[in-house]
Amino acid sequence: MITQYSVQQILGSYNDRAPLSEASTIPAPWYVDDRIAELESKTVFSNTWQMVGRAEQVEKPGQFVSAIVAGEPIVVVRGNDNVLRGFFNVCRHHAAAVVTEKCGQAQLLHCPYHGWNYGLDGSLKGMPEFDGVKNFDRQQNGLAPIQAAVWEKFVFVNLDPQASSIESFFGGLVKRVAPLQVSKLHYFDSRQYDIHCNWKVFVDNYLDGGYHVPHLHKGLSSVLDYKEYTIENEDRYCLQSSPMVSSNEDTATGATRQGDRAWYFWQYPNLMINCYEGYMDTNLVIPIDVDHCRVIFDFYFADVSESSRAYNDQSVAVGARVQDEDLGICEDVQRGLKSRAYGAGRLSVRREAGEQLFHRLLAADLKNGSQKTAAAAD
Ligand code: FES
Ligand SMILES: [Fe+2]
Repeated sequence: MITQYSVQQILGSYNDRAPLSEASTIPAPWYVDDRIAELESKTVFSNTWQMVGRAEQVEKPGQFVSAIVAGEPIVVVRGNDNVLRGFFNVCRHHAAAVVTEKCGQAQLLHCPYHGWNYGLDGSLKGMPEFDGVKNFDRQQNGLAPIQAAVWEKFVFVNLDPQASSIESFFGGLVKRVAPLQVSKLHYFDSRQYDIHCNWKVFVDNYLDGGYHVPHLHKGLSSVLDYKEYTIENEDRYCLQSSPMVSSNEDTATGATRQGDRAWYFWQYPNLMINCYEGYMDTNLVIPIDVDHCRVIFDFYFADVSESSRAYNDQSVAVGARVQDEDLGICEDVQRGLKSRAYGAGRLSVRREAGEQLFHRLLAADLKNGSQKTAAAAD
């Protein structure tokens, strides 16, 4: 007989109060049950700041970026008054996406379906062949706004109208990233990976405090002083950091991963920022469905001139190799999570504090969200 547990039972099966030495991971159903994925979309991804683009893409009036966040089409656009605004990218006529490019520049936002036009401030400017329509208030038919903000080199939105500012949401991360001066780096290239695993499997893999590095990433391991690896949890972020050592074993990694320290920031729920000297990559983990996620890597360098292209390409290739090594493991883990032999796993006190922070934050959001949903249904 197959027992179907309720969402409440699944959420209740994780103890978020256990100290790390006694803690387990979130149980397997959290990674494989459609109802949990749906609840995450309504809560976690609908009330956190989500990265949707790069600041340099919306620097000038009329420049925009579009994205899908928690299943919602959104657009962020710089107005003629230089104010950055976010909107649901949903036409008020018959719900088509108004902006269909990922980024660009326009004077007006023009819906491709029946030609309605919106200003850069979201106001409805014109509707062809709409004479004779009664009780239609143009003022009430602008694009619906959402919160948008720029932090460092990135553009974010938050679907929750009540959300606190991005700085207060990110908390201590803001101060920790500032000294690294990532604003001096320049965007170079992106890579995208579609992975057959729940988005949390990828995040867990990132947050295991280097536990898997000596086993899975021999090249990367050769430049990190693994024993000195540190893990700090604060607010909604975890910083994993390691002193660097010079590598004789892997010349490509040694040449492209330099400086005194490696800095690996994770910001709840799905953003990673990785820095070495003169280098940054960001990883944005986007859930596709309960079994699939997409990870977008953006690479930034201090020097993106033509003369540095070969070096930068080599650096991106080193990053891609690490990613390939992670990919297979993440897909194996997703399969294992579905096995009747697995329920939940224990955590290494030395290595896996970041994972516990992630699971606790997630549990708080989901429990909160499911109570609200239950209260609304009463
Ligand atoms: S749906 Fe946009 S104009 Fe009709
Ligand atoms: Fe890894």
